[in-house]
Amino acid sequence: MNKFHRLRKSKAILELVKENQYTLNDLIYPLFITPGKNKKEPITAMPGQYRFSVDQIIDEIAGAREQGIKAILIFGVNNPKSDKAEYAYNPDGLTQQTIKEIKNKFPDIYLIADVCICAYTSHGHCGILVDGKIDNNLSIEVLAKTALSYARCGVDMVAPSAMMDGQVAAIRQALDSDAFTQTAIMGYSAKFFSSFYGPFREAADSAPQFGDRSTYQMEPANGRQALREIEADITEGADVVMIKPAMVYQDIIWQARQLSRLPLAVYNVSGEYSMIKSAAAAGYIDERKIVIETLNSFKRAGADWIITYFSRQAAEYLNE
Ligand code: PBG
Repeated sequence: MNKFHRLRKSKAILELVKENQYTLNDLIYPLFITPGKNKKEPITAMPGQYRFSVDQIIDEIAGAREQGIKAILIFGVNNPKSDKAEYAYNPDGLTQQTIKEIKNKFPDIYLIADVCICAYTSHGHCGILVDGKIDNNLSIEVLAKTALSYARCGVDMVAPSAMMDGQVAAIRQALDSDAFTQTAIMGYSAKFFSSFYGPFREAADSAPQFGDRSTYQMEPANGRQALREIEADITEGADVVMIKPAMVYQDIIWQARQLSRLPLAVYNVSGEYSMIKSAAAAGYIDERKIVIETLNSFKRAGADWIITYFSRQAAEYLNE
């Protein structure tokens, strides 16, 4: 008989045979920036998460950095909106200013900016519309301009999340033609048309005013197609590929790990966060244990980086 229990009989041996453990080096902490001063607005659907004004985000990052978190992903919200999303690439826009401020205060923080226009279009779609339909070419032009404007402010990495075809290639070309060859790109390569983004839409005020994102984001039931999306991003020059959401897409994470030798990121999205938060608040689950189990499961599936709103909590658990 196989005596599995031999390797489980004490804490020491359990730790010796433990195969996966998330670390501080894996965590990427997403933050929302809102215009104004001295603002730290709670996001109702994401308990413990806030929209920060620039001054407040600096404090938040200082705290996270103190805990050992090294990477931040930022989203600008509550921005001026228009049909063609011009504010997205305004050189003095909110995100642009915030990038300068963060890199100035914390040059050692690895700063990633989400590149999308859903928070900048009056209709809330991630692309430019012509006659009510996404115009892919116009959209990737705007995404490239936006990414370039972030690079000019000193961002380390841009992460296009619009799911427009060819967005990574368009951005790589724009960056390289302006001497930003050192600005990296993380593709939201396999981004599913997921209801797990619900709470984020409240946070970013970026819900589409009509229709939905099913014509550009991926059908959640598809696996093979996700691998094709990942392959395309790699061919287009992505430095890192990402899968989003994470918890119910672990088969994709595993397959992506086999497919590519690039660093692999997963996005533990807003709905995944809120589900755990609300069940824990109701006393149905043990939050600490569930968070650790969840983050370690991403490592087991093959993820390198974990983008998670739990970052500060997860860091605290490691530092305990
Ligand atoms: C922007 C974007 C979204 C998320 C990240 N970037 C929302 C969406 O596509 O609707 C979701 C993040 C989350 O739910 O935590 N396109």
